[in-house]
Amino acid sequence: MSVLASTDSDIAEDYNCGMNGSIKTDVAIAGGGIIGLSLGLELRRRGLSVIVIDRQQAMSSASWAAGGMLAVHDPQNPAELLPLSLRSWELYPGYLERVEALSGKKVPLRTRRAMQYVASDRAAGCRYGDTVTAAEIAEFAPGLDAGDHIFEWLEEGSLDPNDVREALPAAFVEAGGTLLEETEMLGVETVTGGVLVQTTRKLVSAGMFVNCCGAWAGEAEGGLPVVPVKGQMANLRLAPERLRCVVRAPGIYLVPRGDGRVTIGATIEHVGFDETVQEPSIRKMAAAALSLLPEAEAPPQMDMWAGLRPGTPDGLPILGAAAKERCWHATGHYRDGILLAPVTAHVMAQAMLGESPDVGLEAFGAARF
Ligand code: GLY
Repeated sequence: MSVLASTDSDIAEDYNCGMNGSIKTDVAIAGGGIIGLSLGLELRRRGLSVIVIDRQQAMSSASWAAGGMLAVHDPQNPAELLPLSLRSWELYPGYLERVEALSGKKVPLRTRRAMQYVASDRAAGCRYGDTVTAAEIAEFAPGLDAGDHIFEWLEEGSLDPNDVREALPAAFVEAGGTLLEETEMLGVETVTGGVLVQTTRKLVSAGMFVNCCGAWAGEAEGGLPVVPVKGQMANLRLAPERLRCVVRAPGIYLVPRGDGRVTIGATIEHVGFDETVQEPSIRKMAAAALSLLPEAEAPPQMDMWAGLRPGTPDGLPILGAAAKERCWHATGHYRDGILLAPVTAHVMAQAMLGESPDVGLEAFGAARF
């Protein structure tokens, strides 16, 4: 979408007229992915004017490419992430209600539970939740060939990032936010009482600036150690009733969308800003998925795509104040940007407004590097 809207008609008029003056706002956010837009929405809810700047279209990078698992209890997540993940899961229903009410578009949870592989040996015992029984496989995943895999239940949801892509930018604009797309951020300078954000299209004069640039955050303001981590994904086809929960097994996850698509993922590649899709990688992943879901189809013209996750050295996000005055970071969410969007918006808004965040941000500060 390409939109410009604001509660401040002067800003919109000034921008639309192409005049040379700067646009004024309380907060300028670089990065129109799920993190930047969710924070923008939360700040609008608290009465601040917000401009979100995106170098492409909003929600066109990792936020769209993601699997959409709200993987609160994924054993691959660093343990330090759990308090943020749990709080975000609590905030999710209210967050989705607001996005849906503002945008008029539905963002349903497409699944409400996940089967997590734990072992091929029953003696390994319970680790995460209740063991998935054969009867439960027959009920929730009759298309699954579990072989000798043991799975346990996790209470986790998933959503289709395409639904968020449709709804969130529209919700932000409806809430009075200004979205500047196809606009590159060039630099941020602290001035008396605020910051000046230089872009390829307009100078933005803001009270505060936030770097929400995802995989590109290391190249934006603040010298952050964020690197792109490529993930390739694809859609298989399977009758919806044959898989009604997320399945996570070694090297592969399966996320049914409830409409005949099963999204499979994902590669983890350190190859810089390369977003090309390599069919051999996808076919290899599809073979692993088909060994679990033999009834699924991997058509010759499969939907395939790639995205860049924002990776950090310790796998944790970077949240909080930057060294530069009036500047903030909210990035580095690696594999969990969709899950962590509501809590990031919530705790960042609290910190930026001088409140004590619900979840302490000490472990997530940029100063740890
Ligand atoms: N969120 C899953 C992945 O990054 O592959």
